[in-house]
Amino acid sequence: MTHSNIAVFASGTGSNFVAIMEAIELGKLDATVSLLVCDKPEVKVLEKAERYGVPVFAFQPKSYPSKQAFEQEIVAQLTEANVAWIVLAGYMRLIGQTLLDAYPSKIVNIHPSLLPAFPGLDAIGQALQAGVQVTGVTIHYVDAGMDTGKIIAQQALSIEPEEDRTSLQQRIQTIEHYLYPQTIQHLLNDK
Ligand code: GRF
Repeated sequence: MTHSNIAVFASGTGSNFVAIMEAIELGKLDATVSLLVCDKPEVKVLEKAERYGVPVFAFQPKSYPSKQAFEQEIVAQLTEANVAWIVLAGYMRLIGQTLLDAYPSKIVNIHPSLLPAFPGLDAIGQALQAGVQVTGVTIHYVDAGMDTGKIIAQQALSIEPEEDRTSLQQRIQTIEHYLYPQTIQHLLNDK
């Protein structure tokens, strides 16, 4: 088993970031999170990174002339931190060609639906609105599209009659928190 440096990209709460850090601490994931990349100021994941002593690259997209410009800066930071894999965990931004070219087949994302159903924003709300009885979690490679890359792992769950959003979101996140570290470890083993 080879030890790998990974970067987590997040824009918000960071519960998946914490799940990854806990899996590492428990020896279930043989990796180091050598960088947290965050595109929003004052979000919870920044405090969590500090708590775990993970270096942070926080940036404001608007202070760069283009997506290419901030992605070039991110690639420089990733190279400096010797990052082999990019793990998106609630990063609310499409990945551009600069990052895709720098990390071919090395960027993964987690999405709270059974893709290709309900891509994009608020997948949980979309599933409830559609009235489906089954939804789930997908982990996939990232390409230039919105949640369109090759699927790596999926887990389904039934939506209970009258289930509310809070309950469904909690049950989806419970799945995410073990499925993501486990799938990352499988990917690292394969390489
Ligand atoms: C997760 O539900 C993930 O599926 C989606 O964004 C959410 C991030 O949650 N891509 P958190 O910030 O990890 O708590």
